Amino acid sequence: MNQIEIAIKYTETNKDAIIEKFKSFLSIPSISADPEHKDDLITAAKWVQDYLDRLGVSNTALLPTDKHPVVYGEYSCGDETKPTILIYGHYDVQPPDPLDFWESDPFSARISGNRIYARGSSDMKGQIMVFLTAIEAIKETGSLGVNLKFMIEGEEEIGSPSIESFLEKHKQLFKCDFVLNLDAGSLSKTQPSIVYGLRGLAYFEIHITGPAHDLHSGLFGGVVRNPIQVLSELLSGLINAEGIIQLPGFYDDVLPISKHEKNEMAKLGLDDTYFRAQTGVASLFGEKGFSPIERVGARPTLDVNGIYGGFTGVGPKTVIPSRAMAKLSTRLVPNQTPKKVYEQLLTYLDKNMPDGVKWQVKRLSGDSETPYVTDPNNVYARCFAQALKSVWHVEPIYQREGGSIPIASNIQNIIGASSILSGFGLPEDKIHSPNESMDLDMFWNGIKTVIYYLNLAGEPCN
Ligand code: BES
Ligand code: MN
Repeated sequence: MNQIEIAIKYTETNKDAIIEKFKSFLSIPSISADPEHKDDLITAAKWVQDYLDRLGVSNTALLPTDKHPVVYGEYSCGDETKPTILIYGHYDVQPPDPLDFWESDPFSARISGNRIYARGSSDMKGQIMVFLTAIEAIKETGSLGVNLKFMIEGEEEIGSPSIESFLEKHKQLFKCDFVLNLDAGSLSKTQPSIVYGLRGLAYFEIHITGPAHDLHSGLFGGVVRNPIQVLSELLSGLINAEGIIQLPGFYDDVLPISKHEKNEMAKLGLDDTYFRAQTGVASLFGEKGFSPIERVGARPTLDVNGIYGGFTGVGPKTVIPSRAMAKLSTRLVPNQTPKKVYEQLLTYLDKNMPDGVKWQVKRLSGDSETPYVTDPNNVYARCFAQALKSVWHVEPIYQREGGSIPIASNIQNIIGASSILSGFGLPEDKIHSPNESMDLDMFWNGIKTVIYYLNLAGEPCN
């Protein structure tokens, strides 16, 4: 057996222990959006730090940020000529809501069929387990031939608000040749992918206030504007019947999709039927003139994420509410900026707001959540492509993803390092949704891939 096979054998003999460890990580409710879970974020960060310590990683630390700490660590293979790979991860998870729709406790992992169910199983505690287990297997059975640094943050699911200033402060510490980021997933169980583009994000709350307090709709119905009505009209004006976003100047900075990219996207075979199956809708909707895969990967979009106002309890209540609120987000592509979109939203609201209400917009995301696109032929990605091929026996495809990972553009801009974006999550994992799960074949194949990769990454790949 060669080194790689011996390391893989190690994971096979230790399967049960690995799954137990995975379950213990999943049991920590590290929900970054909820201040009540602040301590759980520390527990999760320490969990990762302990693991790194057990691996013999040096100088591990919980580096403070404005919110949740970043777990740091470094490993030197003793050869300065070998590349330094920064391994990125996030130990925070999305809120499990709506809880009623979970078939089991989101923080008590359950294995059913070939999947492990829990919040964060796929996004991305499972991916963290993949690289930690791979490193453990290599170190227990041989040695690593590359230099590593670790950056495992706790704010990704709230848009990494601290990461820009954090990176500015620790520029030297995080110097590296490139980043391995397994937060971006794979196309399917039989088709691994390397992601070369992500969308940016701009997130807002719109607050509308009408009467000074709730009113009896019989006594006052007919004399005031209803804030819910006002909000609904504003929201419905944001996208027209052709799926085109109506914020003034929204498309001005959008880079067109090249012919070559259009062809590559079409080759992925992700047609209407695919997206109907993934989403469970009878028919699709989106910007006219673009295919579904183009709309998700390379066009900007806008969604109302939540809406609140008035009485929503049991039975009737005759009331004109004094307030209404909506949460709204836009996904951005090069060269849009979150700041400009904020200004466009203000202009739109200012122009269309009727008299008789007050309004306010709160920004729930920062200036640095910008889109990211890199060269798919990136030399560093080649070793990863080779590793994927060794396990899946097919060439990976290169795709742009619709999700956002703020670290990618920040680390490019501040440290000057580009990212290999991939991972072992699947579109059907229900990330951010009830009953999130990770496919266990993907998990074990992911570990194998990272073992291959870390063995290949010390030498030039082609
Ligand atoms: N892992 C996801 C992003 C992702 C998913 C990228 C699938 C590519 C394929 C990440 O954890 C995530 O959900 N990010 C948030 C970021 C936001 C809060 C700034 C997102 O996209 O909503
Ligand atoms: Mn996520």
